[in-house]
Amino acid sequence: MNRIWFTACLLVAAGLARGQQQANGKKEQMTQLIDQQFEFADQQYKILAKNVPMGVMPKTYYSKKDKVETSDTKWWTSGFYPGSLLYIYEYTKDTATLKEAEMRLRTLEKEKHYTGNHDLGFMMFCSFGNAYRITGNPAYRPTIDTAAASLITRYRPAAKVIQSWNSSKKWRGPVIVDNLMNLELLAWVTDHGGDPKYKAIAINHANTSMKNHFRPDFSSYHVVDYDMVTGRVLKKGTAQGAADESAWSRGQGWALYGYTMMYRFTKDKKYLKLAENIAKFIINNPNMPKDQIPYWDFDSKDIPNTYRDASAAAVIASGLLELGQYASQKDSQMYVSEAEKMIVSLSSDAYRAKPGSNGGFLLMHSTGALPLKSEIDVPLTYADYYFLEALLRYKNWYL
Ligand code: GLY
Repeated sequence: MNRIWFTACLLVAAGLARGQQQANGKKEQMTQLIDQQFEFADQQYKILAKNVPMGVMPKTYYSKKDKVETSDTKWWTSGFYPGSLLYIYEYTKDTATLKEAEMRLRTLEKEKHYTGNHDLGFMMFCSFGNAYRITGNPAYRPTIDTAAASLITRYRPAAKVIQSWNSSKKWRGPVIVDNLMNLELLAWVTDHGGDPKYKAIAINHANTSMKNHFRPDFSSYHVVDYDMVTGRVLKKGTAQGAADESAWSRGQGWALYGYTMMYRFTKDKKYLKLAENIAKFIINNPNMPKDQIPYWDFDSKDIPNTYRDASAAAVIASGLLELGQYASQKDSQMYVSEAEKMIVSLSSDAYRAKPGSNGGFLLMHSTGALPLKSEIDVPLTYADYYFLEALLRYKNWYL
């Protein structure tokens, strides 16, 4: 009996040691992979920098024309290039990269007064929020505060939402699921000594969206249209998805990331629960490909003969990694392991550009807005940004 007991103990100990060895091996692999991606990014963004004239920001790259397409600083993606440079600097401490970021921030700063749509969080917090966090330079703070004040000019108290776009022929008071991402700017300002009204507005918006944006399976509508005088929902539909009732992939990513982030700021369990349900909708989706890079819409009728969206994968990976910080141990392992598969795929030759190619962008194969025939199967500045963020989150939290 004693011998049996002894043998059993030996087997358990050997199993544990093997498990530990495997875990260490995985950690080494991921450390190396992340290191390689940042080394690549540092070089690649020096190429991108040369392709971007002063005063504008990079959006995408068209290989047929060998041309980086840029936008003015009012476009919703204007904060991602400086944000990506700051993430690269955070990892590499390459001061040339920081200098390039600082120069681009100076171009962007004037948009703190912009009130033409809801995108102030993307534009000013992915850029100046990171600049303030990483450099600690207090000069960045007033820009963040002013951006928050500009964003809440779009708050509509009757509906308790921030209006995304202005009225048009198609929508009267549109709120898109992407808008959840802009709440980080507001919650952060309040939590860092600012007026409590910013976070209160963010919470109201998150609560209203929770009520109106989700279907019973926890997929989300892209657009909810409100009567901003009465607060009534007029209709639900899409602008960038395959159909009004479809699950546009990047939108699912914005929702997952948004409610996980709102849980970080509030510790309100209902946000965590919703984020976990969104995560499960994404992870268990029968149309999720084996390499874990979603098609541009989970419900595209052209699957599997349609485009992927690497940007959706990057947003989802980053969101899942934060969710892994708050979930139970068992669920956390699942979220982190899914995010890890996405990171490994994105870092492979199938999605990551070869050095010197892709106009200087990191990732290939994103889809901006397929129904609008815009930015299909191209690099996108925000795919790079959330990819870098996911790499940093993995390194900081799981290695
Ligand atoms: N916020 C716009 C987009 O995700 O395409």
